[in-house]
Amino acid sequence: MIFGVDMPIEEASVRTFLNNASEAAKIIIECVEADGFIHVVSHLDADGLAAAGIIGKALWRLGANFRLRIQQWVDERIILDITTDKPKLVILTDLGSGYLNVLSDHLSDYQIIVLDHHKPIGYATANVLQLNPHLYGIDGSKDISGAGVTFLAANAINDANRDLAAIAVVGALGDLQDKFEQRALGGVNEKIVADAVASGLLKVEKDLMFFGRETRPIHKALAYTTNPFLPGLSGEEDKSLAFLLSLGIKPKHGDKWRALRDLPKKERQKLCSALSDHLISRGYQKNVLSLIGSVYTLVHEEPWTPLRDAREFSVLLNGTGRMERAGLGVAICMGDRGSALEQAEAVLEEYRRTIMKYLGWLSEEPGRIEELESIYVIHGGSFINEKVIGTLSSILSTNLPKLEKPIIAYAAVAGDNVVKVSARTLDILTSKGLDLGEIMRTTAEKFDGEGGGHDIAAGAQVPFEDVEAFVKLVDESIKRKMEQIETKS
Ligand code: C5P
Ligand code: C5P
Ligand code: ZN
Repeated sequence: MIFGVDMPIEEASVRTFLNNASEAAKIIIECVEADGFIHVVSHLDADGLAAAGIIGKALWRLGANFRLRIQQWVDERIILDITTDKPKLVILTDLGSGYLNVLSDHLSDYQIIVLDHHKPIGYATANVLQLNPHLYGIDGSKDISGAGVTFLAANAINDANRDLAAIAVVGALGDLQDKFEQRALGGVNEKIVADAVASGLLKVEKDLMFFGRETRPIHKALAYTTNPFLPGLSGEEDKSLAFLLSLGIKPKHGDKWRALRDLPKKERQKLCSALSDHLISRGYQKNVLSLIGSVYTLVHEEPWTPLRDAREFSVLLNGTGRMERAGLGVAICMGDRGSALEQAEAVLEEYRRTIMKYLGWLSEEPGRIEELESIYVIHGGSFINEKVIGTLSSILSTNLPKLEKPIIAYAAVAGDNVVKVSARTLDILTSKGLDLGEIMRTTAEKFDGEGGGHDIAAGAQVPFEDVEAFVKLVDESIKRKMEQIETKS
């Protein structure tokens, strides 16, 4: 066993995986040396933007001639974008493995590198070099992200790209891969974390898991924290402030608010044991263990910015992508600060407001989160922006009345006769064998759509007029699958 993970990863598999990263690096270097034009496509979410920043920086350092586009999926329009460019090389990051058939049908004349962690669907043709952990028995949903795979290739291009490891950590956290004990990253991610620490860019500590530990007054960070859920404090700024005062913890230093990062060890310990008592007294002893977790700090980032805590960084990236300002997120991953960061912070606020607006809309009428036999459904229609539907289903998946039912949310894609579907569930179901990626893929295919993704988080695009039938079929498939699981156990 290597990397101290709970499922042993064969060392030989990891070595072959790394060798293939060198293969990808060789192709990229040869293309740049021959002055070939490169077209890069990356995915729209935090992990995809981190991957784009990593490959963008590596190509920029090589002096490559390239264009980088951020997309939500691969379809004919994107193929047309690529073929219009007539590139010498196409690189797809954090997507591609789910679209191998599309690539072989439409891009067989192009040399393609796929740096992805989604389960491959179909087979790669000879013109495609696919670097994907699933091909080596490594779990792409928790052991390495799209940004991680891209980092391995970048690092194989030049060891100087090792400084991009911290961005790969941001990508992995954006994909919620912190599934190991005390919310740590594990598997190949653990090696990438070690690279980032060795580069002097990252610090890993066990501390209170507050959201906004670097940027918010302590009582606000307490109120923003929903994982773990703190009854009476989560969502309650005034009560959180009163809680701090009752402990004798001063929320301000002079006229400046203090953040969690400003508290000396003794005060943190006091806060931690008071929170434990608070949880136990309200019957939430299960949440005590989640109070402390692995905190990943980018030590070269300015204090009080959302880039300092890697989890907050990933939320900022998600915000830029989903609010149609992906370029800002990529620029920040490539090292841009100043005005790019200011603009991204404003976009982040707008993103938060948008999510709050949607959550408000969903709670206005009880039927807006519809409960079917085996799933919950959100009919987002054209009210919810299809780019934000993924975030919304991720948030809701941990806050449903019955956590043993997956959530399927969809919204219309403006100007297209298609809906974007986002499906999420929790470990309690995937550990029993439910695979949403498989269900999205097989059901979407029945409607000439595309679907796929991870067992825990998956998506699909289906024709607008078929969405109700699609949802019904998903409900039935999940019901059948759960019945099979129950009979087996
Ligand atoms: O395409 P990609 O793999 O990068 O995206 C995975 C998506 O699923 C991310 O947006 C991530 O936040 C979400 N996810 C989730 N719950 C999990 C794991 C991932 O909502 N447990
Ligand atoms: O878009 P959303 O965040 O819901 O996607 C969840 C996961 O499913 C992501 O990893 C995404 O890349 C994947 N997905 C896929 N094929 C699709 C749609 C989404 O692999 N057609
Ligand atoms: Zn990803």
